[in-house]
Amino acid sequence: MGSHTSLDREAQNILRQNDRGGYTVPTDGLYPYQWNWDSVFAALGFSTFDLPRAWQEIHTLITGQWDNGMVPHILFHQDNEGYYPGPEIWGCNGPIPSSGISQPPVAATFVRRIYEGDPETGRAHLEKLFKPMQDWHRWFMTWRLDRGAVCVTHPWESGRDNAPDWDGTMERIDPVGVGEYKRRDTSHVSSDMRPTKFDYDRYIWLVQLGRRLGWDDAKLLEENPFRVADPTMTFILLRASRDLAALADVLGAPRDEIDGWISTLETGAASLWNDKIKCFDGRDAITGDFSGSISNASFLCWYAGIHSDEMLAHLHRITASCAYGVPSLDPRDPRFDAKRYWRGPVWGMMNTMIGTGLAEMGYRKEADALATNTADLISRHGFAEYFDPSDGTPAGGGVFTWTAAIWLAWASPSARAV
Ligand code: DGY
Repeated sequence: MGSHTSLDREAQNILRQNDRGGYTVPTDGLYPYQWNWDSVFAALGFSTFDLPRAWQEIHTLITGQWDNGMVPHILFHQDNEGYYPGPEIWGCNGPIPSSGISQPPVAATFVRRIYEGDPETGRAHLEKLFKPMQDWHRWFMTWRLDRGAVCVTHPWESGRDNAPDWDGTMERIDPVGVGEYKRRDTSHVSSDMRPTKFDYDRYIWLVQLGRRLGWDDAKLLEENPFRVADPTMTFILLRASRDLAALADVLGAPRDEIDGWISTLETGAASLWNDKIKCFDGRDAITGDFSGSISNASFLCWYAGIHSDEMLAHLHRITASCAYGVPSLDPRDPRFDAKRYWRGPVWGMMNTMIGTGLAEMGYRKEADALATNTADLISRHGFAEYFDPSDGTPAGGGVFTWTAAIWLAWASPSARAV
């Protein structure tokens, strides 16, 4: 186990190594482009030691914004043979070759944090970024609501690709005509840590559907069978809208529209409460069925400013049941799979948002315990993409940007001393 200052240096080196000049890849090989929320976490990490580089990351992300406000989940800045599905499969027409879906909009929250760390140099950046971020939020509010909650139209959009939240919806999809394709992810990482073929056929079928409909939001709303109100998106957009409203105040910009979104999203967050399991849960917007999962996204409620004693009871029970929390699925759930991506493993960036929410809502003891536990996990098991919650075994990509970033900005003792 290294000292925390040598781990700080290692984390900085990882960000530098994964820097491709203006943007950061999540990890070499498996994810060779700019991914939306990975990149914003990278900016947060850079902000601890290289502020100009932090701002540059967000500006580069925004260069990919579509005319309708959507900021894509992947920007394909350069060709890479080792990735599938690449830009030719997505068939999009944005300013930069991209995917046709978005990802949880953590940007306004971390832009606010980076700005507040140094308002003097941050002001000019904020002036440039405010409108694009507002346009992006408006796109979600225009196209993606179900009872005020935010829906995803592809599992990749939530960032939690193979979470059980999508199982029921994925079963209703018949990936007819998907054809032959060659996965690349399983040539970088063992297949038992990645989504199954059942899932992958449907991921690709949904991409083909979007492409056929020209990524037209109105047509997708009518024809896409995958539409799930998602705790990740709903809590993150709610939180980010609160931060966007605070940034509007800084700039003296009107905030009424944003305040309206906040109250809609608060109603939407309440609509995700599954009373059967006493937990915030994914809900299929077409059938109305809940997925029945207590996931790490359920625990983003505090990050969104929502109190829940019942969620606190789940957190205590689940973190007591494994060496490293918060697992992406309740280990008591029969669908739990300790190393399979979003069906069990612990993710440091989710812990960062959960811990930030806990601290802000006054649960200091739980927030500190989670940061200490995550620091212990990373210092013993490295900067992996995700980890087995029972013993910390690293899984997925090895040298991972967001794990390094959250070490620097949240988990490291140096971050907590500030
Ligand atoms: C992948 O390539 O598996 C990604 O998760 C898509 O965003």
